[in-house]
Amino acid sequence: MAKFRSSYVCQNCGAITQRWQGKCESCGEWNTIIEEAAALGIGGAVARRGAAGRPFPLEELAGAARPEPRLITGIAELDRVAGGGFVPGSTTLIGGEPGIGKSTLLIQACAAVARSGGRVVYVSGEESTAQVRLRAARLGLADAPVQLAAQTFVEDIVATLGSGDAPKFVVIDSIQTMWSDAIESAPGTVSQVRGSAQALIRFAKASGAALLIVGHVTKDGQIAGPRVVEHMVDAVFSFEGDGAHAFRLLRAAKNRFGATDEVGVFEMTGGGLDEVPNPSALFLADRDGGANPGAAVFAGVEGARPLLVEIQALVAPTTLGTPRRAVVGWEPSRLAMVLAVLEAHGGMKLGQYDVYLNVAGGLRIMEPAADLAAAAALISSLTGASLPRDAVYFGEIALSGSVRAVAHPGLRLKEAAKLGFAKAFAPPLPRADGEGANIAVQPIGTVATLVALIASSAVETRAARASAPARSEVTN
Ligand code: TYD
Ligand code: MG
Repeated sequence: MAKFRSSYVCQNCGAITQRWQGKCESCGEWNTIIEEAAALGIGGAVARRGAAGRPFPLEELAGAARPEPRLITGIAELDRVAGGGFVPGSTTLIGGEPGIGKSTLLIQACAAVARSGGRVVYVSGEESTAQVRLRAARLGLADAPVQLAAQTFVEDIVATLGSGDAPKFVVIDSIQTMWSDAIESAPGTVSQVRGSAQALIRFAKASGAALLIVGHVTKDGQIAGPRVVEHMVDAVFSFEGDGAHAFRLLRAAKNRFGATDEVGVFEMTGGGLDEVPNPSALFLADRDGGANPGAAVFAGVEGARPLLVEIQALVAPTTLGTPRRAVVGWEPSRLAMVLAVLEAHGGMKLGQYDVYLNVAGGLRIMEPAADLAAAAALISSLTGASLPRDAVYFGEIALSGSVRAVAHPGLRLKEAAKLGFAKAFAPPLPRADGEGANIAVQPIGTVATLVALIASSAVETRAARASAPARSEVTN
């Protein structure tokens, strides 16, 4: 087999080529390929050439049913995403944009674990220990027995962690700042990141420490450079949020020890990250008090958690040749589809109107179940009829104009009932899905039904408006 002294590695996706190229064939990025010393053997480990393999004992699948107790940090929203605490010896990669609160979350987790006993180490490659201490003091965690270091050299870090008591919980902030002597390329390159991660993961496995590694993400949300690291770790979490809003979502993109549909919700406050056990209440907190055409509450589900959020629409006559369609927090293509269905099957004429759609609170909705709520908000804005304030909406709209069933109807209805909603507009529920929830379900089979229902209340609203001045004249 040919041996290469150096290879060319894309710093975005980790793809390896044998010559320099301006554009990476694998991920399409430009100017990301640089020359690096070739990794020797798998993952940089030097192959023991010529050494004969020794047999080792194999174990029974049935014999290993001894579940290790998980490490509970005490931050319930974090433990939930981890699948009920962290597995000793496991490695978790936490990605997120700069400034989203990764370091804050992890120092809080460190302090919580340290207070319950055991050795906890926080290694920062980005901040000095003084800076980390300052933040901890601001968060009221200064007295927690967390061991700090500002180091980036992996061999030293592993040696330090390996001396003294075995650590229970280790945080490396961040993997992009780490470098190892075993790798010849420059710090910050994909090979360095991969090599450093490998050394740290090996340490975690051998010592039984729960290891959390911070990874930076690129502007399009991928963990910068080391996609390769995602394959090496046991779990990948992403910490997301909108800079303009205080809430943060922690999602599991991969988890070998738990479900990936768990979501942790936090709120960034002056005193660090607060857990949000009831996110619907947070997202509905700034609802207008009065009746408001164009606003519909969507009963959504994030991961396996119900989440109620307001969808706002504005349909206004256009002054442009091509009307504007702007959407924040939802898929523009789904808006286009809902508008087309409303025109084709709901008899609504939207060609002369600008359409704006916004998901309140800065949340990003991925679910097609939001179709019905978006449609209700749009119809309400166009007709000027306020929707009932105590109603929620969910359902997927098909191109045929029918409203389709979605996952977790029972969960949505229960959450809505819990928050005081009395009515749900939903696709016809086949089974007793809503049973037990104290809420009236109005089945909506087609978009035409929804339009007729809202339009009839618009007629009532107009009649009420028209009769109101007349009445006041009489009383005057
Ligand atoms: P940080 O945890 O440093 O983000 P990351 O490690 O993901 O880059 O968080 C930085 C932001 O969090 C910063 O913009 C200020 C804000 N913040 C608060 O609002 N309250 C706090 O108590 C702390 C510590 C940070
Ligand atoms: Mg940080």
